[in-house]
Amino acid sequence: MGRYFSLSAASLLLASGHAGARSVLEPVGEEAQQIAVLFWVMLSGGALIWLGVVALLLHAALFKRHGMNERSASRIILWGGVVFPSVTLCALLAYALWLMPGLRPFTQAMGSTALRIEITGRQFWWEVVYHPPQGPPVTSANEIRLPVGERVELTLKSADVIHSFWIPPLGGKMDMIPGRTNRLSLLATKPGAFRGPCAEYCGTSHALMAFSAVAMEPEAFRSWLAGQANPAESAGASGGALFLRHGCGSCHFVAGTDARGLIGPDLSHLGSRITVGAGILPNTEDAIARFIARPELIKPGSRMPAFDMLPPDDIRAIAAWLRGLQ
Ligand code: CUA
Repeated sequence: MGRYFSLSAASLLLASGHAGARSVLEPVGEEAQQIAVLFWVMLSGGALIWLGVVALLLHAALFKRHGMNERSASRIILWGGVVFPSVTLCALLAYALWLMPGLRPFTQAMGSTALRIEITGRQFWWEVVYHPPQGPPVTSANEIRLPVGERVELTLKSADVIHSFWIPPLGGKMDMIPGRTNRLSLLATKPGAFRGPCAEYCGTSHALMAFSAVAMEPEAFRSWLAGQANPAESAGASGGALFLRHGCGSCHFVAGTDARGLIGPDLSHLGSRITVGAGILPNTEDAIARFIARPELIKPGSRMPAFDMLPPDDIRAIAAWLRGLQ
């Protein structure tokens, strides 16, 4: 357990160095901006009331030597203990309710002109399918790219248990529930790479289920998406042949090859992603090789079997080929 913990902690640190683990209080999305303002309003309201109560308490303790008559005491209880908290709490609640429609824009109204991204939570990774307004869908995994300044519709699903989707600096979190489709819309206001965690306990490797979110300038995003729609070219064809020979293709899909499995993450452009292992390891040949050899050490409870019975040279060749799928 201790080894798992230190390994996971180190991997998280490494991965977060690649895709910034930004706080909800440094928003770069329209929805996250409103949530941050709500937080500060609530915090300031709470702090003011706390200061008032402490001041009254000090006043009573230090200066009030004699008791109050019953009438004044009742009046203080009525105004300070009933009217004031009711009015303040109602005002804060009204403010929060007034913000809510802006956080859940009616996405059907966006029509067919918007990019829709379908994200499915799985133990313990994310399947990502881009549905651009024109052109065929593009499948990826464990990384979500968005164009800056354009509202994107996310449809959130789960293939097994409840997961929760969250990109803290971009917007609020939403559960992914088996048998249900939840909708969320996000508008990134600045380019950048962020870490998104799974925010609902979903099994052994819940804390190791993350993804990278990358907000890109619209032009760069469109050319990236066009590139993803075509098979990648990777040097080291021997690694590709070994990948197929050792049966990796029965679980993984790699566009342009005979690997057509749909159980594990799509690896068609693995080399172009920031992290591997769903947001936990930096994307290096070494990390890919380690994952292939002993997935259960990096992601306990993962459905991928260990391949450490393969010759190390074969594992390295496969890792090099996968890393080259840009
Ligand atoms: Cu998926 Cu927690």
